[in-house]
Amino acid sequence: MIIDVLTCFPEMINPVISESMVKRAQEKGLVTIRVHDLREFSADKHRKTDDYPFGGGDGMVMTPQPLYDGIRTLLQQAPNGVRSRVLFPTPDGVVFKQEQAEELSQEEHLIFVCGHYKGIDQRIRNLLITDEISIGDYVLTGGEISSIVIMDAIIRLIPGVLSEIKSALSDSFSDPLLDCPWYTRPEIFEGEKVPDVLLSGHHANIEAWRKEERINKTKERRPDMWKAYQDKGDDKNG
Ligand code: 6GU
Repeated sequence: MIIDVLTCFPEMINPVISESMVKRAQEKGLVTIRVHDLREFSADKHRKTDDYPFGGGDGMVMTPQPLYDGIRTLLQQAPNGVRSRVLFPTPDGVVFKQEQAEELSQEEHLIFVCGHYKGIDQRIRNLLITDEISIGDYVLTGGEISSIVIMDAIIRLIPGVLSEIKSALSDSFSDPLLDCPWYTRPEIFEGEKVPDVLLSGHHANIEAWRKEERINKTKERRPDMWKAYQDKGDDKNG
């Protein structure tokens, strides 16, 4: 998969993609991330990328020219016959879910367009953006952090990226219940003991305990997920 990120703040993206899971995915050749400075595409002599909103209002709007030229350049650089998705992280987008991460992990080319200030000129959204994505009901100052969040969720699902495929499959959200508590050594830490059942070696009891913990946590924290789970009659799931 090729991921292009178009941003006014490349230094917000670069340190994150040079570490950890994303770094390993790149080293394995499973993903190539290229970060592009939007200012490089500005035709303005001061490399400006924003301007005042028509009709008035606070804040600045990202001007269409650098975005148009930048996105079109990245689209043209894609290998022949490859479909590109142009993603715009924005608080007024469709809320990002695991399902969409799974779908996007099968794509060959993603372009992330990072907006700032009040947003980007609507004509860019109309002409070039294929997906407008929000990462939740709160407002961040720009699309860089949201892009990193979305990229992480997608890249870890690319086959071969995680060595522990099974562990990814039992994540909260890849099935309809939240995850159970997990423990490792030592058995007692700061006076707190690991639940006996986990030390019992009784596999069926352990599975039953985990399932119950998942159900109780889901009921308490996510009544919406619990209702969906019951409606699906999904009792054998998980
Ligand atoms: Cl994708 N961008 C920004 N700026 N704020 C957000 C968001 C995205 N999702 C939730 N809040």
